[in-house]
Amino acid sequence: MVDFGAQYAQLIARRVREANVYSEIVPHTWTPEQMLARDPAAIILSGGPSSVYATGAPFVDAALFDAGVPVLGICYGFQAMAQALGGKVAQTGVREYGGTEVEVCSAGALLAGTPATQTTWMSHGDSVHAAPEGFEVLATSSGSPVAAFEDRERRLFGVQWHPEVKHSAHGQTVLEHFLYDGAGLAADWTPDNVIADQVAAIRAQVGDARVVCGLSGGVDSSVAAALVQRAVGDQLTCVFVDHGLLREGEVEQVERDFVAATGVNLVVRDERKRFLNALEGHSDPETKRKIIGREFIRVFEDAARDVVADAGEHGEQVKFLVQGTLYPDVVESGGGEGAANIKSHHNVGGLPDDLKFELVEPLRTLFKDEVRAVGRELGVPEPIVARQPFPGPGLGIRIIGEVTAERLEILRRADAIAREELTRAGLDAEIWQCPVVLLADVRSVGVQGDGRTYGHPIVLRPVSSEDAMTADWTRMPYDVLSAISTRITNEVSEVNRVVLDVTSKPPGTIEWE
Ligand code: XMP
Repeated sequence: MVDFGAQYAQLIARRVREANVYSEIVPHTWTPEQMLARDPAAIILSGGPSSVYATGAPFVDAALFDAGVPVLGICYGFQAMAQALGGKVAQTGVREYGGTEVEVCSAGALLAGTPATQTTWMSHGDSVHAAPEGFEVLATSSGSPVAAFEDRERRLFGVQWHPEVKHSAHGQTVLEHFLYDGAGLAADWTPDNVIADQVAAIRAQVGDARVVCGLSGGVDSSVAAALVQRAVGDQLTCVFVDHGLLREGEVEQVERDFVAATGVNLVVRDERKRFLNALEGHSDPETKRKIIGREFIRVFEDAARDVVADAGEHGEQVKFLVQGTLYPDVVESGGGEGAANIKSHHNVGGLPDDLKFELVEPLRTLFKDEVRAVGRELGVPEPIVARQPFPGPGLGIRIIGEVTAERLEILRRADAIAREELTRAGLDAEIWQCPVVLLADVRSVGVQGDGRTYGHPIVLRPVSSEDAMTADWTRMPYDVLSAISTRITNEVSEVNRVVLDVTSKPPGTIEWE
């Protein structure tokens, strides 16, 4: 996938993988030689913000089309391809944006079996007015005389619209036609093949050295650990720091269920007192975050040192550290091969110099949904695999005010109720996450039974999001909200009011601190 700066670049790569074909994103600044050196079985040119007429607009070197590798151009990629091969791209000033009807004039390989008129998602200013020589025009729209074309012999294809976007009615079919029929690829990028490949790669990298992994209880570190365990078994030691800021049941999930399912060697550090002591007297959000991050690094350092010392007694060396780095992190950090990318996530960040580890990153080629599929295949327990995002500082930043053992207990119970009801209502997949926040320094008057109460409010913050960069508050069914509110106020005596946060991001962040 050659990225021309498309907001859709990662989406295209994901859709290709949904067709069970492995894909990688490379920048358009690569030369054809660099791209071909990766030995691609097929190339997709993405859309991009430019006009081919803009000064400095990225262009496609025609040499790319002479290599015998099948190519699909999408939107800008389609126009750049048309131009490079001698077609005509016109600046008509007619923009097509959003849902756009196209008429199929000849289905070819690309549009085979799709309707004669179909809705596609367009976003472009220029349009292709004449296909290059040897190409057959497959479709037209009112603003694009040539809206799709192909040269089956040379295995070159293009569409003006965005097949990766769900609003393009037959988009996935078009992509699959290109991959399977146009490029002759097999649908063999499946979780079990990913596991087999990664197991082999980890074994080759690690040999018989020892490996350490910081487990957070989240999806990424758990699946990474399970993969490494599958590859090198007892050479791996996982360290889990119980900082006391986790939600109900999470420690047990890791200590018991995860170990039972994967057989990893687990060292649990009970550091609840240490974190509470460190947090005592602090209610400023940034100070709390810094304290939690700092303590985390220290504890993990100690734990890693212990593992190293322990291994040393047996004459072995701990040389490797497992990281749950995902593909979007790799792409966003400049991507591609060899780009060092260490998440500043505080469960592993900032290790001291005298602990020199090489990184093992078995998830570097995977998107989040693929990590989940791999985790399921490895038998990682469903509550861990399906976990919604949860901040590293945990409940510590969902208690507005000072963090104390009592307040943590109140929030843990309220949070467990909200999660139970959301799961019961089948909303887990629909909601990105639902922070439950305790306004610990606020009290309000209520009445319960015959008595006056003076309790704390709990805030529900259900949000819908694609990537947590922006979010909207989720319009949850009233009966689910009502069930959560009733149960929390009945079952958590310190809480007498439940309120709903109806702020999008921006302006509000997802978390309150
Ligand atoms: P905000 O509050 O910035 O959150 O809108 C965006 C997403 O990031 C999560 N979050 C964190 N995740 N360490 C993490 O691993 C953190 O310190 C942290 N703070 C926020 C948050 O839950 C949401 O998904």
